[in-house]
Amino acid sequence: MTRIDRERLAGLTRAEQELFRKRHPRSLELFERARGVMPGGVPMSWMAKWPGGFPVYVDSASGAHFQDVDGLDYVDLCLGDTGAMTGHSPPATVETVRRQVGAGITAMLPTEDAAIVAGELGRRFGVPLWQFTLSATDANRHAIRYARHVTGRPRIVVHDYCYHGSVDETFATLSPSGETVSRRGNIGAPVPLDATTRVVPFNDVDALERALAPGDVAAVLCEPALTNVGIVLPDPGYHEALRRLTREHGALLIIDETHTLCAGPGGYTAVHDLSPDVVTLGKAVAGGIPAGAFGMTQAVADAIAARVDLEDIDVGGIGGTLAGNALSLAAMRTTLAEVLTDEAFARMIPLADRWADGVDAAIAAHELPWHCTRLGARAEYNFAPTAPRDGAAAHAAGDFGLEQFLHLFALNRGILLTPFHNMALMSPATVEADVDHHTTVFGEALAMLKK
Ligand SMILES: Cc1ncc(COP(=O)(O)O)c(C=O)c1O
Repeated sequence: MTRIDRERLAGLTRAEQELFRKRHPRSLELFERARGVMPGGVPMSWMAKWPGGFPVYVDSASGAHFQDVDGLDYVDLCLGDTGAMTGHSPPATVETVRRQVGAGITAMLPTEDAAIVAGELGRRFGVPLWQFTLSATDANRHAIRYARHVTGRPRIVVHDYCYHGSVDETFATLSPSGETVSRRGNIGAPVPLDATTRVVPFNDVDALERALAPGDVAAVLCEPALTNVGIVLPDPGYHEALRRLTREHGALLIIDETHTLCAGPGGYTAVHDLSPDVVTLGKAVAGGIPAGAFGMTQAVADAIAARVDLEDIDVGGIGGTLAGNALSLAAMRTTLAEVLTDEAFARMIPLADRWADGVDAAIAAHELPWHCTRLGARAEYNFAPTAPRDGAAAHAAGDFGLEQFLHLFALNRGILLTPFHNMALMSPATVEADVDHHTTVFGEALAMLKK
């Protein structure tokens, strides 16, 4: 499909790897030292997935750029895979964090900020009652637990090739014969995946109806548009069907806005007027300070309250000692009020369109059968001629070797893309020159491939 000469690709990749090694002696030195004390030389296993053989070590980061320990500057289009969607160290959040660090970090007591943040999230996402976690993963875990508790049902439904954090129930996929099975790479599954989960292809209303029909589904957990296997947008009418069918079959609808917050200040939910029972969030909401949140309707909150005893509240599997801490909430309050504002999105979204226009133009100029999909402040190219309609199609359009070359070519010319697929994200600090730098470099990479 990609019509790429594989031998040529291998040669080009080797040349880029050599260049990378030559340009990063200090990162290499730190990596060699780190290997003795951390598996893979990294503090978290994903950090080994960068192209080039070893990661770039960061010296400092600010706004849409970072500098590495070899003194090189980068346009950051990865932005910590959305954790730094605010831009690195946004000044308003930094000022608040500085103040709060000196005024108590965590006390397992609420601060005034908590109710202010909850009110603002309610205004943005349309569900009124909020709880806080330290990550989007935990927000999803807790939402699933509550859904099971209030419905008394064992299973959840997820989309094929979804990602919702390290949540056991979600590492399921469809086998070629349509069974729910453990996803490739799933480590240490506690039970067979079909005991907890039913998988449906994105945009497949009939499959969704069949999955809900047995009446044993507590919740459908979904991103409103898939973002973790490339971007897959919903067909017109898919969300209406999802809402109607979950209601008809007594399952809760949990919308995970962790990445789709890029669609606007109230995420995809607000832009498309969705009405979930529960919304989950994380990553960027506190400007990079660990924080997650989940919001629910009054009906869900009432159902929970009717089934939870105060005496047992600390051992029910919801919560965490540091969750809802003063520092996270202060950072979230300022980030929402002063960084991820309506005005910021009004700048970020046209920049993502500019990025996608540049990618589309280079693809057309080099007559490649590739496609670029847009989702608010985020855009992504994949190696298929049309936009995928489900996760399996998006996955089939991936090409790890080609991605590694394109990412390394960009990295060697001062641009960081997410290591998982070909996604670019705009922050409030990103400027047109950053985007245009990528357009130039992407065009050069395609010219090399097609020579
Ligand atoms: C849609 C979605 N939900 C949840 C998560 C989990 O986020 P975290 O790893 O910060 O808990 C991710 C992470 O990539 C995500 O993409």
